Amino acid sequence: MQTITKVAELRRALAQARKADMRIGFVPTMGYLHDGHMALVEASRAQCDVTIASIFVNPTQFGPNEDLSTYPRDFLRDEKLCRDAGVEIIFAPDAQEIYPSGFETFVEPGELAKPLCGGFRPGHFRGVATVVCKLFNMVQPDVAFFGRKDFQQCAIVRHMAIDLNLPIEIVTVPTVREADGLAMSSRNRYLDRQERQQALAISRGLLAAEAQFREGERNVGKLLALVRRHLEKVDRLQYLELVDADTLKPAKSPLGAPAALCVAAYVGTTRLIDNVILNPE
Ligand code: PAJ
Repeated sequence: MQTITKVAELRRALAQARKADMRIGFVPTMGYLHDGHMALVEASRAQCDVTIASIFVNPTQFGPNEDLSTYPRDFLRDEKLCRDAGVEIIFAPDAQEIYPSGFETFVEPGELAKPLCGGFRPGHFRGVATVVCKLFNMVQPDVAFFGRKDFQQCAIVRHMAIDLNLPIEIVTVPTVREADGLAMSSRNRYLDRQERQQALAISRGLLAAEAQFREGERNVGKLLALVRRHLEKVDRLQYLELVDADTLKPAKSPLGAPAALCVAAYVGTTRLIDNVILNPE
């Protein structure tokens, strides 16, 4: 496995693979890797000949009062996880390499970036779309892998790839959960023991609603009310919404098309997000 920090070097390393017509898989991350990230790596290993993971804590997607400076980092551990998982290249640039002085061109997502997290994190998806677009141009992968846990991010990246004619297949990988249901996240490490227990309300609520949906419940209000009862345990609910899985606009009863039941909530000072997809087929 190679660890590369410069774009020019990355292009050189990938030229060989491209010449040999290898299928290049790309897993963008902000590091502090866990089994959720590793599921993306596994999917890439299964579908591609070469897997590149990027590790870059992207400053443009953090708001002024968010956790950029404290975002968890452990590069040596990440490197070992990637090596053990069979990643061929880690791309770990510094901020200067991605945003050299004078950088001023951004990718502005449209309607999909407005609801859900978009309403609470102004500029977040502009930063995500910009860095993902730049990373796509640097790596030029055939396929890129994203986790469903960040459902709105998946929708925005997919739409960006279509709108900007990026010749990259976007694959979405199901959310990986801890044994008790909590969605894996690098931010879970902020939780103390009591908060970790409180945080379970989120996945419990969502999974309970998913179970009711499987039993045949199609009423939006009833499904939301069920989750809301569980969410009484979190410290601050930011949003709980059931949205159409394609447009991210509020879903209507009775549910007839795939929908995403999405939550963002604070437990202590930690902001957590999670979702389940309800697909009536
Ligand atoms: P990060 O939060 O590190 O996540 C990297 C990728 O891992 C994303 O596609 C995310 O959806 C996926 N992921 C995280 N937790 C997961 C889980 N429990 N199950 C499955 N997949 C999971 O998302 C970002 O970084 C950044 O916004 C990025 C796309 C790298 C742009 O900076």
